[in-house]
Amino acid sequence: MKILVVGGGGREHAVIKKLKENKEITEIFAYPGNGGIAADATCVGASATDIDGIVAFAKQTGIDFAVVTPDDPLILGAVDALSAVGIPCFGPEKKAAIIEGSKIFSKNLMKKYGIPTAAYEVFDNAAYALEYVKTAPIPTVIKADGPALGKGVIIAETRDAAEAAIRSVMEDKIFGASGAKIVIEEFLTGPEVSVLSFTDGKTVVPMISSMDHKRALDGDKGLNTGGMGTVAPNPYYTEDVAETCMQKIFLPTIDAMNREGRTFKGCLYFGLMITKDGPKVIEYNCRFGDPETQVVLPLLDSDLFTIMKAVSEGRLAEADVKFKHDSACCVILASDGYPQKYATGFEISMPDKLPHGAQVFVAGAKQKDGKLVTAGGRVLGVTAVAPGLATAVEQAYDAAKTIRFDNARMRSDIGAKALAIIKEI
Ligand code: AMP
Ligand code: GLY
Repeated sequence: MKILVVGGGGREHAVIKKLKENKEITEIFAYPGNGGIAADATCVGASATDIDGIVAFAKQTGIDFAVVTPDDPLILGAVDALSAVGIPCFGPEKKAAIIEGSKIFSKNLMKKYGIPTAAYEVFDNAAYALEYVKTAPIPTVIKADGPALGKGVIIAETRDAAEAAIRSVMEDKIFGASGAKIVIEEFLTGPEVSVLSFTDGKTVVPMISSMDHKRALDGDKGLNTGGMGTVAPNPYYTEDVAETCMQKIFLPTIDAMNREGRTFKGCLYFGLMITKDGPKVIEYNCRFGDPETQVVLPLLDSDLFTIMKAVSEGRLAEADVKFKHDSACCVILASDGYPQKYATGFEISMPDKLPHGAQVFVAGAKQKDGKLVTAGGRVLGVTAVAPGLATAVEQAYDAAKTIRFDNARMRSDIGAKALAIIKEI
């Protein structure tokens, strides 16, 4: 069985390592993969958004099953294009990926079907948006409608900042066409929880919950990043919260997408905030989270490929989806300066075997003269799994410290907030 995984980050590395546990799979190709993924898959192609190139390669190579994980190719219709040439896929079609591709679509969906989310207004005209924020409650949240490399959300703490944000998104077009329309949203407060779920449009199976650490610096300070570390499970996601989410958010979302003729099959990511009025949706993603996947999949006790195949064939209800009763922590080693300017090209040195059975998922690295060198902002993630979160955190840091490259930086408090909550409970 030949599998193609589209993408080339830490998330794809985690997916590939998990897929490798299935004995039916003989070969895994990553399109484009990266210098670290090359240890676990054959890397081909140059870009995850080269849909024609991906389809041509898959046909030529006789790929039996494709897994598309990044947002861009999903939003561009990679699954539709692969399915059109008869290749079964894990991932939503373009018409369902819009749940992440357009914030206006997802907000209108939630409003229409009564799914709890922040109150909002939509604007396609800067003058009206500027008028609106003169009296809107502050802080306020300004979101570009389309994809913006994870940077399309601006939290404005003052009226001046809100005005500046509207001007930069709509007039200076800092996010290009993605900011032609915007959502201005009520600012919510409360702990955040990421819940990735498998769904075939009939059944929805939430995976173990997780907590991302989005800010660059310790204590949740500094700029927003793609994620500096994760832990799972998330202690804020209690059984009560999980039940409310299932009834008020997960099932209604699957149902809403079906009713709109946009059945979602794949991994649907619920970005939730647990407010004093209950859980609300902050965002939907049409894919596995990064770096949530790097803690969620190491805790998956069942076979990933069997689940993915069941999702693609509409048989998820029959699949076994079990998680270990352990905890996991992933610490990201980044290039100093990320998410702004940073230098790359530094050799990465790591032991053949990490302590505590920890795993490395490579995100931004390439092969140069037979050596692995840094090539991105987030370079790699180190995940440890242990019976309790405190041990998982300790072991992830232990293992991360054995990996070296110039200019490396990590947060030193991944998991600290979760551990404090566990102590309180
Ligand atoms: P996103 O790019 O959609 O993941 O949003 C980035 C972050 O902005 C989220 O993880 C939240 O921390 C924050 N955020 C987004 N929407 C809101 C909101 N309505 N209220 C408060 N914080 C928000
Ligand atoms: N970690 C957040 C995301 O994948 O969007």
